[in-house]
Amino acid sequence: MNVHSCTIIVISMNLERSKHLHYLNALGQGQDELDFWLKQHLHVSAIYWSCMSYWTLNRKEELQKEQIISFLLSCLTESGGFACYPGHDDHITNTVYAVQVLLMLDSLDRIDRDKVATYVVSLQNEDGSMKGDRWGETDARFLYSGINCLALLGRLDMLNKSAAIDWILKCRNFDGGFGLCPGAETHAAYVFTCVASLAILKQLHRIDQDLLGWWLSERQTKNGGLNGRPEKLPDSCYGWWVLSPLAIIGKLDWIDRNGLINFTLSSQDQETGGFSDRREDIPDVYHTCFSLTALSLLRYPDLEPVDARFCLPLAVTKKYNL
Ligand SMILES: *[C@@H]1O[C@H](CO)[C@@H](O)[C@H](O)[C@H]1NC(C)=O
Ligand SMILES: *[C@@H]1O[C@H](CO)[C@@H](O)[C@H](O)[C@H]1NC(C)=O
Ligand SMILES: [Zn+2]
Repeated sequence: MNVHSCTIIVISMNLERSKHLHYLNALGQGQDELDFWLKQHLHVSAIYWSCMSYWTLNRKEELQKEQIISFLLSCLTESGGFACYPGHDDHITNTVYAVQVLLMLDSLDRIDRDKVATYVVSLQNEDGSMKGDRWGETDARFLYSGINCLALLGRLDMLNKSAAIDWILKCRNFDGGFGLCPGAETHAAYVFTCVASLAILKQLHRIDQDLLGWWLSERQTKNGGLNGRPEKLPDSCYGWWVLSPLAIIGKLDWIDRNGLINFTLSSQDQETGGFSDRREDIPDVYHTCFSLTALSLLRYPDLEPVDARFCLPLAVTKKYNL
């Protein structure tokens, strides 16, 4: 028998650090006008994704701190919530992203925390759930955003916690996972928001962690990537949505680390930098952020540790005793 005939697959790819920094640096510049207007609804989110990417790559000193803060403050509305862009309506998603970035930049003193917290609490419904804005759509992501935001503001005591916990537990399914509202199918992104919410509220003992860990580890596909639901294609951002709840319940070793590193690295654009959802697609800052934070959870070398509950640098949540 010829021993050389067996094929050994080796991960030969590396993280293209300098290309990713180049990609991030170019994001704010040279955009054509149409692109700029089309993406206005993503401005505050894109600032958060890009700050997290720089930070995870150990390059937080490259952030234009004053420029970012003054842009965020220009998105603060009368209600106490933040809009995606000056002149737009406030929304819980932009509010948590803005507060996360201000905390990363040690600048929460630039806002009236009580006013922002009052805005967040005003979105809570009687059943414990939360609306995204005053027009009323309810979703587990919005409650997570509210809980994350109130914790960062040091105002978690303003929330009706018992109602929030009851509602989150109603989103749980027989498979151990969570959906976007009671009765909805389990999906990895909602598993993250519900598990991270319960972790911040110190209620992890309320769930079956082995069953949950099983559902999450079943998300790994043959090529090493993770999907958000059974039968779906893997996507690099699910590296974050699936791994973060596994990290929170201490079961990161329930997935194949090398397979996922290989899949994630194969979704980076070797020429322009940035990550896409999967190999050969066009990179964007959202997938760049969540690929890097996933690689950090996988202890890929020389990346800043990330706190899975808040999706913030661990150095920041430690500093503020979160
Ligand atoms: C919290 O919500 C529950 C359910 O709606 C309600 O019965 C309770 O009075 C609320 N608690 C506070 C402190 O508002
Ligand atoms: C590495 O990732 C590529 C692209 O997704 C995939 O085709 C290949 O099977 C993976 N290799 C291993 C060893 O997982
Ligand atoms: Zn994705």
